[in-house]
Order: sequence, then structure tokens, then C-alpha cells
Amino acid sequence: MKERVWIDRARLAAAGKGYKGFLVQATSANQRDTLEGYGFRMVDQLFVLFRSLARPLPDVDRPLWDLRLRRAREVDVSSVIEVDNRCFDTFWMMNTSALTEATMATPRSRFRVLTAGDQEQVIGYAIFGLGAGEGYLQRIAVDPEWRGRGLGTLMIADGLRWAKRWRARRVGVNTQQSNRSALQLYIKLGFELEPEGIAIYSWEDR
Ligand SMILES: CC(C)(COP(=O)(O)OP(=O)(O)OC[C@H]1O[C@@H](n2cnc3c(N)ncnc32)[C@H](O)[C@@H]1OP(=O)(O)O)[C@@H](O)C(=O)NCCC(=O)NCCS
Repeated sequence: MKERVWIDRARLAAAGKGYKGFLVQATSANQRDTLEGYGFRMVDQLFVLFRSLARPLPDVDRPLWDLRLRRAREVDVSSVIEVDNRCFDTFWMMNTSALTEATMATPRSRFRVLTAGDQEQVIGYAIFGLGAGEGYLQRIAVDPEWRGRGLGTLMIADGLRWAKRWRARRVGVNTQQSNRSALQLYIKLGFELEPEGIAIYSWEDR
């Protein structure tokens, strides 16, 4: 009954702001049952993984090409969005406000871009966050043309090193259960699967 009150409040608040629907996440079987009972539709399922920083950090070779991993600047935002939109399906694509939100989600964050050549073409990016003694890999993407050359690994190793410097105990990440390449990469780098994942549910006013 308590859940019904919260769900009705959320629906009213969304409708009051002109939204026709909203998303909510469930982290336990109980929450999933409740949301399904109220007619919410499951739209995706995520794995949750953590990587202990007590373990040695991955050893990474410097990239052979003319590549640079540097702090993201305001002028990079449109290129980052372009790379992002080539890397994720519509549901997960970011726009400028989602990108800002990702960098502000934690008290401290590290937003890096990977660039190629003199023109500094953005070919990938990563956002790590830090709060309450834990690090989070918020987002990572490598342009499809540049994948499989260790660049994802390079950016993750950089974020792990940063989180360790700030004395985080571990770094977490969520990934779509369908995203086998990201999952393989995280496991290879020492991330471990949590027993419970996250289910994303959608409410739409009919
Ligand atoms: C995940 C992603 C960042 C990896 O970038 P990358 O530069 O290709 O990664 P690396 O070259 O460092 O790592 C390669 C490793 O990833 C895994 N991998 C990469 N492509 C794979 C594929 N098609 N199938 C299975 N595993 C794959 C393997 O473990 C591989 O290790 P190996 O080279 O020793 O076999 C990139 O695929 C990407 O941008 N994907 C779309 C966005 C995304 O899914 N982001 C993560 C969301 S949580």
C-alpha cells in the first residue's frame, strides 16, 4: 500500500511537469514484483560490477598512435555527444544535459577525452565519479572505428588509478546485460559481478 502512495505521487509529479512517462530502477526481486504489479514495463536489465582497488592496477601500454588522453573541455562537448551517439542505441544516448548530469552526479568527477592527431579528433571519452569512498565508471565509449586496440582499457586504467589516488576502496559500473563486449572487458580488468543487477522500468500514461 505504501508503494502505491509513492508510485501515485511520482506519476502525479511527472504529469504536473508535462511528462507522459518516466523511468524507475528496481534493485531487488521485491521491487520488481511491485512495479510489475502496478503495470510498469521492464525496458532493460543491467549487470552491476565492482572492482576492488586493493588489487594491483592493470598494466597498460602507452598507445602507439598519435593519441592523447586529456581533460575534457567545453569545446569538446559536441564531439563527445557525436561519439556517444555512434556508440549507444537511442534509449541510452546522451544529450548535453545528460552529459552534464553524469559529470555532476558525484561530488568529484573525472571527464577525459581521447583524441587522435594534430586536429585532436575526439575518438573516445570516459567519465568517472567519486563519492562516499567509492568510484563509479559513469560512462565510457570508443568510436566504433577505433575499437579493439586497447583504448577502452587505457581509459579504464586511468580512471582506476585516479580513484585509487583519492583512496576509493572500489569502483563500480553498470552495464546492459546485452552488452557482452563491455562485460568481457570489465571482467578482464578485474571487475566482479554482483549477485543482484538492476532492472529499468518504464511508466507511460495511457
Ligand atoms: C566497451 C568499449 C568502450 C571497449 O572499447 P575498446 O577500445 O574496444 O576496448 P579494448 O580494446 O581496450 O578492450 C578490448 C577487450 O574488450 C572485450 N571486447 C571488445 N570487443 C569485443 C567483442 N566484440 N566481443 C567480446 N569482447 C570484446 C575483450 O575483452 C577485449 O579484450 P581482448 O582484446 O584481449 O580480446 C567499446 O566497445 C564501446 O565504446 N562500446 C560501446 C559503448 C559501451 O558499450 N560502453 C560501455 C557501457 S557500460
